[in-house]
Amino acid sequence: MKEKMQALRENSLKAIVSCPSAEQLEALRVRYLGKKGELTAILRQMGQLAAEERPAMGQLANKLRADIEAAVEERRAALAASALEEKLEKETLDVTMPGENRRLGHKHPMYNVLDQIKDIFIGMGFEIEDGPEVELADYNFTKLNIDESHPSRDWTDTFYFTEDSRILLRTQTSPMQIHAMEHRRPPIRILAPGRVYRKDEVDATHSPMFHQIEGLVVDKGVTMSDLKATLNLVVEKIYGKGTVTRFRPHHFPFTEPSCELDIQCHKCGGKGCPTCKGEGWIEVLGAGMVHPKVLSGCGIDPDVYSGWAFGMGLERLALGEYKITDMRLIFENDVRFLEQF
Ligand code: DAH
Repeated sequence: MKEKMQALRENSLKAIVSCPSAEQLEALRVRYLGKKGELTAILRQMGQLAAEERPAMGQLANKLRADIEAAVEERRAALAASALEEKLEKETLDVTMPGENRRLGHKHPMYNVLDQIKDIFIGMGFEIEDGPEVELADYNFTKLNIDESHPSRDWTDTFYFTEDSRILLRTQTSPMQIHAMEHRRPPIRILAPGRVYRKDEVDATHSPMFHQIEGLVVDKGVTMSDLKATLNLVVEKIYGKGTVTRFRPHHFPFTEPSCELDIQCHKCGGKGCPTCKGEGWIEVLGAGMVHPKVLSGCGIDPDVYSGWAFGMGLERLALGEYKITDMRLIFENDVRFLEQF
């Protein structure tokens, strides 16, 4: 029995040390030390020994088991280390190699202008309001006191989705006034920028899709002088201190009184030049005091509250600010153009 153990020791240790893989090593361990392994088989014969021989043989067997286990462990560690080494070798990464050149974009120039406007209004306590571009005619027209026969409702001007002219692409951001007044209670101060759509042919100053910025204030005791003071301040922040403004009477169905705001041409100082098309003035926005019918339609009592609103075109503002002469450039997304800003 002693000789058998000695033979097992020699064979097993030799096989383990030269074992080439973790799987085969595990197979060896089972073969030598498993329940049906070679050591177990030897120990089965213990019964044939004389009683006084058994303790010594038992000790020998324990020592053999421990040595084989230790050898397996050692080999396992060695195999793992060399596997890692091999992996690292294979996965070498040359950090000095030139990287892939990824082109980084930047904000669109028109959105720079929009962000500037948002900052100005947020600074005055306005909140930004977002709303649907697919709108009900009710919100785009009716609740804004625009009657059924108004030309802006015409199918030649507006993109409708339904034969009954009930659903459309909003033609203005003014329906945001209604949304704001329906889900907020005064005091209301909101700014609602967004896309609007009209059936216009594309040319240097027209696009079937463009952007407007709507503003609305509703509170107790709000007057036309608040409108003028606020908008004058905004104009100064956009166009610089000392910019001369003019509030010109106009008509919008949802404001009374209504006006348009012009700035004196900063290029020619009002004499008339190509920038202002010889007018001396540049139209900036439409505005007015919110019509009492519009207020009461939204559940706001016009005897208690009053408000003012304005709407301006974002493209025109951006064109002016960046001295861009053709609106198509804003939408074409030609990087050779956009890269300049
Ligand atoms: N929605 C108008 C338009 O598209 C612009 C406008 C005028 C908006 C007067 C207003 C306003 O809020 O008070 O021409």
